[in-house]
Amino acid sequence: MGRRLWTILLLVQTLCLTSVDAYPDGKVTESCGSMMPIHGHAPNTSHSPYTLAVNVTKFSSGDYIQVTLSGTTYFEGFLLEARNASNPDSDAVGSFILTNPKTTQLLKCGHTAGSAVSHTSDARQTKIVVIWNAPQNSPDAVEFLVTVVAHFKTFWVKIPGPVVSQSGVTPIPPKPTTPSTTIMTSTPSVLPKPFSSVGCGQQKSCLLDPVGCDPEKDPSCFFLSFAPKGQTVVFELSGPSDGYIAFALSHDTWMGDDDMYLCVRDDGLVDVSAAYVEGRSYPKEASENVLTDVAWRLADGVIQCRFRRQVLVPQDPTRFSLDAPYYLFMAYGEAEYGELQYDIRSCCGLIPICNTCFVISGILMLIAWMLAGSTGTFLASYFKPDWPERTLFGQRIWFQVHRGLMILTVLLTCVAFTLPFIYRGGWSKRAGAHPYLGCTVLTLALLQPIMATLRPPPDSSRRWVFNWLHWGVGTVAEIMAG
Ligand SMILES: *[C@@H]1O[C@H](CO)[C@@H](O)[C@H](O)[C@H]1NC(C)=O
Ligand SMILES: *[C@@H]1O[C@H](CO)[C@@H](O)[C@H](O)[C@H]1NC(C)=O
Ligand SMILES: *[C@@H]1O[C@H](CO)[C@@H](O)[C@H](O)[C@H]1NC(C)=O
Repeated sequence: MGRRLWTILLLVQTLCLTSVDAYPDGKVTESCGSMMPIHGHAPNTSHSPYTLAVNVTKFSSGDYIQVTLSGTTYFEGFLLEARNASNPDSDAVGSFILTNPKTTQLLKCGHTAGSAVSHTSDARQTKIVVIWNAPQNSPDAVEFLVTVVAHFKTFWVKIPGPVVSQSGVTPIPPKPTTPSTTIMTSTPSVLPKPFSSVGCGQQKSCLLDPVGCDPEKDPSCFFLSFAPKGQTVVFELSGPSDGYIAFALSHDTWMGDDDMYLCVRDDGLVDVSAAYVEGRSYPKEASENVLTDVAWRLADGVIQCRFRRQVLVPQDPTRFSLDAPYYLFMAYGEAEYGELQYDIRSCCGLIPICNTCFVISGILMLIAWMLAGSTGTFLASYFKPDWPERTLFGQRIWFQVHRGLMILTVLLTCVAFTLPFIYRGGWSKRAGAHPYLGCTVLTLALLQPIMATLRPPPDSSRRWVFNWLHWGVGTVAEIMAG
């Protein structure tokens, strides 16, 4: 198998295996016990707009009870169970019968088939009706419990529903409901216009994909900029997406163990958060609010967000310190049913835009040509007359140094040239002229030593042709690499 194919497979694997937590299909049996969606977020604690209703208050073994989940607003997912009312943390009891198998499905929670009901897609609904069948050895009192996902990050876990008691049993008094607490946070402001690439390279560092695009004019431009301001860094992120855009700081070129910053479209608003991506799990949202001066904008299918972060966040070890270099990933995708969709469908659309590989290869190129290349050329042109006779290993010293540095240059160029290929798993279609330039530089760099070995002896009448060609090709390559 070729290296390219391997790289693509690895990429697909890394991204797709993070998909285990996306459940728009409602197969949520992992959540049977806790009834907690496997999200990186905390559930909503305010009063829910959803209610559960039953058509009876008393039942006997084998009875059928109609259970209705309805809301004053839509929901995209749910998980409904009946449990022992005296022990609501125990397994689901009884079994359900569907009235609409298109929008609802039965799940096996615990040992009983059909002991829970969930959604079949993330299509919005406001009401579902199912029938619960009381088991033979039913607890004296049964409580219906439901988890409802309204939309991204807005979900209520284990909403208590009605309690029904077996006939002839004193009903347990309803539990007092705990008053909900709302935490006030500073309201993010709305940005007036798209971000600008003006000042990139001076006041701020920018990553643009495609290379050189202008976020002000081109809605398909992915843009990330960062500008240090004292002990903080201001980030600007924008790009086309229906769901979310994000970037991650990583210690390596693979996703996992990364410090991620997400801007998620949520019902006409943008939710800006920091999260930690551990291995293949869903990003875990930062418990502390570490982002300040948050601002966003939604226009022309583009999500835009800006925020400020402290360089060092000692209270949260999952926030990387910003005074070290990192690989940067940019990502985008769907955000539905409270999940960032890392499933196969959007996996292959979820392109990690590793512009830093260009930055890194750019740095290697720079080292290669500025340092080694220039010094080599410099030595050849200036020190050649000064050290005409000193020798090292049988060759004149200036020539040895020149050749050594030039070989280093060619090697560094090779590494710099192959990095974007290895990372992107092939030729980048979105990088504009960059790969072509890279190719040309590599060709020219490889041409030099070949020419050098074929050079005519110093006293040959054609030696001047080599001298000029050698110098000319070297200069062109150096200019292009820069
Ligand atoms: C709960 O959801 C409502 C929308 O129904 C939202 O306005 C509120 O901010 C949410 N509260 C929390 C704590 O997430
Ligand atoms: C409640 O609904 C179930 C299922 O539709 C039905 O069998 C039962 O007779 C109903 N009970 C009452 C009291 O309406
Ligand atoms: C229901 O829970 C109570 C309290 O834990 C327990 O005593 C009772 O046996 C349970 N009933 C069933 C049928 O499991």
